[in-house]
Amino acid sequence: MIWIVLFSALALQGPKIEPQQCLRCHSEVWRDWKGSLHAQALTDPIFVSVVKTLSEAQTSYCYSCHDPEGNKMGVSCTYCHRITRLVTQGNLNLKFIPTDTLFGPWPPTVDSLPHLVAVRKHYSQGEFCGACHDVKNLKGFLLFSTYSEWKESPYAIEGITCQKCHMPQDLLRSPVDKPYVSQLPLTAHGFQGGHSVEQLQRSIELVLFPVQVADPLEVRVDLTNKEAGHYLPTGVPNRWLRLQVDLLDEKGNLIARGERIYERVVGDDQGNRLVDIGQMFLKATQTLSDNRIPPRSTIHENLKFAQIPEKKVKMVRARVYYEMGNLPQIQEGVVAKVLLASQVYSLEHTVLGPWGKLFVLVFLLIGLGLTLWFFIRKGGTT
Ligand code: HEC
Ligand code: HEC
Ligand code: HEC
Ligand code: HEC
Ligand code: HEC
Repeated sequence: MIWIVLFSALALQGPKIEPQQCLRCHSEVWRDWKGSLHAQALTDPIFVSVVKTLSEAQTSYCYSCHDPEGNKMGVSCTYCHRITRLVTQGNLNLKFIPTDTLFGPWPPTVDSLPHLVAVRKHYSQGEFCGACHDVKNLKGFLLFSTYSEWKESPYAIEGITCQKCHMPQDLLRSPVDKPYVSQLPLTAHGFQGGHSVEQLQRSIELVLFPVQVADPLEVRVDLTNKEAGHYLPTGVPNRWLRLQVDLLDEKGNLIARGERIYERVVGDDQGNRLVDIGQMFLKATQTLSDNRIPPRSTIHENLKFAQIPEKKVKMVRARVYYEMGNLPQIQEGVVAKVLLASQVYSLEHTVLGPWGKLFVLVFLLIGLGLTLWFFIRKGGTT
């Protein structure tokens, strides 16, 4: 055992320290990270497809965040855990020192540590993530600002950091493999975001209100960003939400469709809309529009359908999708689509044909007659 510890300590010396070494003792953390977009920041097919369209001078700027250590490991353990201090917010304004010391959030709980550990409180602060998740493009324009959106939200005031939502702690599991016995909780390193269906689905709430038969037919829908600590969607402006309201006949066939898109649109100096991610990084200088859902906010929608054959409409269905696209090859096409929520309102009960109306009338008349008869009789006996 002593040998293993000694060997490890030696293996972690000097500039040779590499992310692969962490796997030996932090295997749970490693597995989690390996599946995250941080581990894939360099190989992520969307990133690769965009980088191909840029010149070498331009891509070195991209790699500063997508491969900050220059070791082709993406945003790795050895990068994140050797950040000694934060300078200002955004665009990698932080101090990275490639030493033997690994910086972490908490005082160690193991007596003979196999590597040096130093505590920095920034690991538990949203500012740490903000160093990369507020990004100015090559024109100095804030292309996306997940950190700033969070900073201005109620979550920041309540102390609900990025880590609380994206790195939940498991007190029952250890971050270090046996034989080490650690008192620290295991923190999730999978960084679930817009590529996680589960994370996306819990972020939104859709409410479809009862629909009255009329012309125009009105459909009211509320969309609430209930669990994202920033705008929905956030990050690179190549994603949007699509609300789709469908009027269906009794067989489920589509009679009419209404749609709304929620997105941030960026443009160049002349105010031309930019749809290609690469162009956004090179040319965007302004936000042309932004109707995304702010944290803990609700958007009220009212869709009107005129001249619909009302008797045929049996169901109203509202669905909301998260979509990604705007890649160089396909321009405005969609590369990913996730159904976040769906609700159906059946009109059956509110629509009464002529026979239904007659039935209700007869029923009411009988009721009235009986009541009258009852009172007349009561009056007669006293
Ligand atoms: C994007 C930056 C980032 C990357 C990449 C990263 N970590 Fe972390 N790590 C953090 C932050 C932030 C915390 C503190 C979380 C908190 O305060 O709740 C942390 C906490 C830890 C802890 C202490 C908490 C625990 O789970 O016991 C260990 C150990 C750790 N990381 C190891 C690793 C290893 C090993 C890797 C690579 C497989 C890795 N980290 C990759 C940011 C990162
Ligand atoms: C030989 C086993 C071993 C190896 C290899 C190893 N660690 Fe550790 N690490 C530990 C032990 C043990 C602790 C102490 C846990 C405690 O204090 O409860 C620790 C603590 C940490 C902490 C401090 C958490 C905190 O806030 O106190 C971080 C960060 C960390 N390791 C990251 C790494 C990274 C990154 C690598 C890869 C370069 C790595 N470790 C490689 C065993 C190892
Ligand atoms: C060194 C820069 C850096 C730091 C620090 C950093 N990130 Fe990231 N993060 C990235 C990059 C780059 C990507 C995108 C990778 C890709 O898809 O190409 C990313 C992706 C993500 C994603 C996935 C997004 C998606 O679309 O699914 C989440 C979630 C995330 N980061 C959360 C965090 C949190 C929380 C922290 C702080 C604990 C943090 N990041 C710290 C650079 C960083
Ligand atoms: C209250 C919980 C909460 C907080 C706080 C929070 N997030 Fe998120 N985050 C979510 C949820 C839920 C999603 C999935 C929905 C979405 O994509 O917006 C998400 C998505 C993301 C994504 C992926 C965006 C996309 O559409 O692909 C990134 C990147 C991200 N968060 C980073 C951060 C960073 C950085 C912070 C802190 C500055 C932070 N988050 C704070 C809950 C939170
Ligand atoms: C200051 C840090 C930083 C720089 C510089 C940077 N990025 Fe990113 N990039 C990020 C972060 C953080 C994310 C994750 C945002 C999210 O998903 O919300 C990201 C995400 C992306 C994505 C989306 C990946 C996906 O799967 O959805 C693409 C594409 C991308 N970046 C391309 C580039 C290109 C091209 C460049 C250079 C022109 C570049 N980035 C420069 C930080 C940076």
